[in-house]
Amino acid sequence: MCSRCGGLLDLERSEPISINSASLRDLWLTRRTSLDARDRSGVWRFREFLPFPEDTAVVSLGEGNTPLYDAPRSAGYCGLPQLKLKHQGCNPTGSFKDTGMTVAVTQARKLGARLVVCASTGNTAASLAAYAAFADLQCAIIVPAGQVSHAKLAQALDYGAKVIEIDGNFDASMNVIRELAEDESIYLVNSINPFRIEGQKTVAFELAEQFEWQVPDHLVLPGGNLGNSSAFGKGFRELLRSGLIERQPKITVVQAEGAAPFARFYADEDHRSFVNEEHPTTLASAIKIGAPVSWQKAWRAVNETGGSVITVTEQEIADAKAIIGRDGIGCEPASATTVAGIRKLIGDGAIKESETVVAVLTGHVLKDTDYVIKYHNQTLTDPESRKLESRFANAPIRVAGSADAIREVLLDRVGRM
Ligand code: F0G
Repeated sequence: MCSRCGGLLDLERSEPISINSASLRDLWLTRRTSLDARDRSGVWRFREFLPFPEDTAVVSLGEGNTPLYDAPRSAGYCGLPQLKLKHQGCNPTGSFKDTGMTVAVTQARKLGARLVVCASTGNTAASLAAYAAFADLQCAIIVPAGQVSHAKLAQALDYGAKVIEIDGNFDASMNVIRELAEDESIYLVNSINPFRIEGQKTVAFELAEQFEWQVPDHLVLPGGNLGNSSAFGKGFRELLRSGLIERQPKITVVQAEGAAPFARFYADEDHRSFVNEEHPTTLASAIKIGAPVSWQKAWRAVNETGGSVITVTEQEIADAKAIIGRDGIGCEPASATTVAGIRKLIGDGAIKESETVVAVLTGHVLKDTDYVIKYHNQTLTDPESRKLESRFANAPIRVAGSADAIREVLLDRVGRM
């Protein structure tokens, strides 16, 4: 691993913040109305907690500042009176990766790197490709051939990245890229790079601000390579240490049943050894990962906050995703593990109806439209080719092109509502 990436180091702020909590909160909020790109970025407006000098020239596409939605249908589906969805899919390239990439690519440019690289299930690739192009850096991405959604691949191609497809899965891509990054001229920006985590941690600041610094009881997010869980953990830990919040939310990570090494580690009472999943399977291709590189940091986040790690089935993901869509919000399959997971946690009594709960949606609904169309056309099958039920299907209706035929369908629709 390239020493300039910081290896597996965890970046800690060396100097204490010299400004009081109330003034910092005011400063961060007022920056949103500034015309300075750094102030408008939902990452860089929290720069007092980022390891860069004040005059750093940042590479920003206007990331962060994502909405926190009320989702009544999803809440009802879970058995809660209220549920909030933090939609990180509303970032410039449609996923949470942008909040880390702005920082990692800023660091790459600062170091004078010529080539930035990553292995990816698609979103990191799309994000890196965009930020590298914007910063005028060469970019190469390694992806598992045939396992990345068309939308994500299309983004990486359009942003001009060199896209290298390999035989094998994401874990194989990750292994090969770590070997390549031994070369000092190649800068690796997977979430093993601590600058990615620095950027991604700011979502905890943003969320705390959206809750007027009274954090929710539970934060539930999907887990793949486990960088995002690590970042949320670090963000809330720093806020607590700085006195900006009084307690941390319980962080619960949800994995797809077929790609759940972290959930198995959690379920083992002694938490002794982490066993990778050699052949991970799930239709939620973003989290089809068997050897997560950041599991130790994610474990710290779960353990410190009193959260948990659970799994959900392909059927549960598919149904939860359709419900999130019905709320007018939508997300990609990996993100829907959260609502499926919350429903399960309510059923088990691990979350109480009276508690405040946030689900983190990590990717936009348009990231995997093949999945959406198949679900609504009732042709979605799981990785073992078993048909999934489309309980909330909304298939297109084909009629003759006459007003009468259409009217009949519309009346039928209204009648059924
Ligand atoms: N949700 C989405 C939409 C993702 O793209 C990913 C990871 C995750 C959740 C899991 O986050 O890895 O931090 O635990 N995608 C990576 C990629 C692996 O290459 O785009 P994590």
